[in-house]
Amino acid sequence: MVKPHRKGAQADKKTEKKAVTCGLHQLSDDDDIPTLRSSLLSWYDINKRDLPWRRQLKNTDVNQRAYAVWVSEMMLQQTQVATVIDYYNRWLEKWPTVQKLATATLEEVNEMWSGLGYYSRGRRLHEGAQKVVKELDGQMPSSAASLLKELPGVGRYTAGAIASIAYSQATGVVDGNVIRVLSRLRVIGAESTSPQVMEVMWSLADRLVDPKKPGDFNQAMMELGATVCTPKNPSCGDCPIRGLCRAYQQVEKEKKKSANKLENMLTKRVEASGSVQDIEDVIDGCSFCLPKEEPWDSSLGVMNYPRKAKKKPPREEKTAVAIVSCAEGPETKFLIIQRPETGLLAGLWEFPSVQLDRDSQSETRKSLIDSYIKDTLGLTFGDVEKRTHVGEVVHIFSHIHQTYMVETFDVQHHDGQDGGTGKQEAPPSRWVTRSELQGAALSTAMRKVFKAYVASKSESQHPANRNSTGTKVSNKRKRKSSSDSSDKKKQMALDSFFKPRGVKTKA
Ligand code: ADE
Repeated sequence: MVKPHRKGAQADKKTEKKAVTCGLHQLSDDDDIPTLRSSLLSWYDINKRDLPWRRQLKNTDVNQRAYAVWVSEMMLQQTQVATVIDYYNRWLEKWPTVQKLATATLEEVNEMWSGLGYYSRGRRLHEGAQKVVKELDGQMPSSAASLLKELPGVGRYTAGAIASIAYSQATGVVDGNVIRVLSRLRVIGAESTSPQVMEVMWSLADRLVDPKKPGDFNQAMMELGATVCTPKNPSCGDCPIRGLCRAYQQVEKEKKKSANKLENMLTKRVEASGSVQDIEDVIDGCSFCLPKEEPWDSSLGVMNYPRKAKKKPPREEKTAVAIVSCAEGPETKFLIIQRPETGLLAGLWEFPSVQLDRDSQSETRKSLIDSYIKDTLGLTFGDVEKRTHVGEVVHIFSHIHQTYMVETFDVQHHDGQDGGTGKQEAPPSRWVTRSELQGAALSTAMRKVFKAYVASKSESQHPANRNSTGTKVSNKRKRKSSSDSSDKKKQMALDSFFKPRGVKTKA
């Protein structure tokens, strides 16, 4: 079995306590594993999606394959396949090799990543490419252990994915899809993110991976989780490994039970344990079975697994945003400011913004944004022709529920050239046209803010065309649900209106 390899492995010393587990969670090496491998691989051969990074796997240059997998896997973390395709294609067109990526500037990388969210991923890819070129002779590390050690931002999952897919190393991978498949397969009902369960997942993944086709096997597990063994409404009827799936067996058993209503001792025992295994295989107090306090719920079927820890609610934050526009010259220009080089959305550009106290009143907000523009940015713009309240725009970051209170300032002319406000100690700033804004390294949240501004403009000019862009904006104090309140985890790209230049949306 492949040994687990991981950054900060010693942090898990506490979790080394041996768990008491029952036979329900085991797979036999002689029968189950060979059946699982062959069923899954045959299914994958027929059903795999035609994705651009998979086409790269035919490339005979192994370094090139590893680079392509690395880029795709970094993009796929926290982001849906449909969104990634377009970003991936443009990335590889611009930087087809690790050497080319190493010559890019961080600003170019941020521009390319703009709208994809979790910006540190792009930064890390860039840093990693520079390291490969400067320190590793242009050669990508070729094992899971060396990828993990050498490349910034590459954790156990990405290292395993690159090593297995590009270099055919027989090492497993565990992502959210794999966790779901394995916890249903082996009825693992303990909290799926607990260190103990994660350890079991990794050792199962390493045991199951097909040594002859590790890359296909790992991709097949993820593909199954993404397309068949889905979080909601899984298509068990299409699953190639349902014959081995204990959660599925439980559902089938229940169907039969309700058909003949025959109760017996075994069935009672099964209800308590959440499976249909022989009674000798079940251990009372097993660490991996469903907890007694929250046993199997028939209405959920296989969706009883995995069990997730209750998430902490996101922190509520409020930020005042000023869209300062100047119609001087042939085109309207907008003022944007660069965020600090560390922290959330590091180095990205935004409209002038000030974080507010949660309960700050409208007058305080106005005076804070005024003084930020005048005192911090040092902007002495000509008479503000018009100051308009646009409304509230909500954006959910992974851990922050952010409400932007958006205002516009139409100014007649501005000091400072297009290079910015001119004030020495102020953060970097620049005046940009609308099309320059499209190509700039702006966060998804700021693109949403701009979209709201465009919608409010069009609404004020044509009141009948209410909200033509579809962004939900509230100008009441009561918060409305945002247009992406359903993408809790994954950031979707905005529509073509704000796609980087010359790009068609596929998602
Ligand atoms: N999710 C992340 N990487 C994947 C891959 N290579 N195949 C399928 N789903 C994935």
